[in-house]
Amino acid sequence: MTVVDFQKRKASGFPISIVTSYDAWSARIIADSNVDCILVGDSAAMVVHGHDNTILADTSMMAIHIAAVRRGAPDSFIIGDLPFLSVRKGLPEAVESIATLMRAGANAVKLEGASGNLELIAHITQSGIPVMGHLGLTPQSINVFGGYKVQGRGEAASIGIYDDALALEESGCFAIVLEAVPKKLARRVSGALTIPIIGIGAGADVDGQVLVLQDLLGLNTQFTPKFVRQFLGGATLIREALNRYHEEVTKKTFPLEKESYE
Ligand code: KIV
Repeated sequence: MTVVDFQKRKASGFPISIVTSYDAWSARIIADSNVDCILVGDSAAMVVHGHDNTILADTSMMAIHIAAVRRGAPDSFIIGDLPFLSVRKGLPEAVESIATLMRAGANAVKLEGASGNLELIAHITQSGIPVMGHLGLTPQSINVFGGYKVQGRGEAASIGIYDDALALEESGCFAIVLEAVPKKLARRVSGALTIPIIGIGAGADVDGQVLVLQDLLGLNTQFTPKFVRQFLGGATLIREALNRYHEEVTKKTFPLEKESYE
């Protein structure tokens, strides 16, 4: 997968599948699957580090996760998330953050929001760095939204997201993540743009989907949003395996002869 393939998929109508990863072992499994590409999301702050939101992610945290994913998936297309405020401290600092993620192993970066970012997006795409936009429920702005709420409901909000999507395409984004918006709005945006719209909680009428790996594997035992489908009962399976291990240890049936050295 390359940015050129994103364009081809949009033209052909064949949906794009993206999943998050934050470490080498899961990246290795994803690279060995049919999933198209990997997003190293700033959701790492929540999923891996246990924070309540993504605001605690910073550039060095993201670089560590991107480097690990690159080691696990040397040939995959990896998108690295630009963390909270990393591109809002002026152009030199933004470019430094982006360079850090690219040197860690990203093929592209993702950036939340349109307002105030358009010049930067044009600058970095012209500098040879593919940029993915992110609109709708942009988690770095939860304090403005008042929580994890569906965005783009009502005429004004819906027009705002639609216009932002057009502006991101105009600035040079190769794709846009559209999160937690009504499916009718997502369909309209996808129909109006020539770049792929990757939905998460945006319905099926878009050009691809992205999910957090731990959500789709059923490993997240806390809150599960309506848009998540668990394709595996991961937490239950792991708990059962751990209990079997504990039982065999306590019964001294693990390890066996064949699992021991002479
Ligand atoms: O950080 C992340 O994982 C994301 C996806 C949920 C789109 O931005």
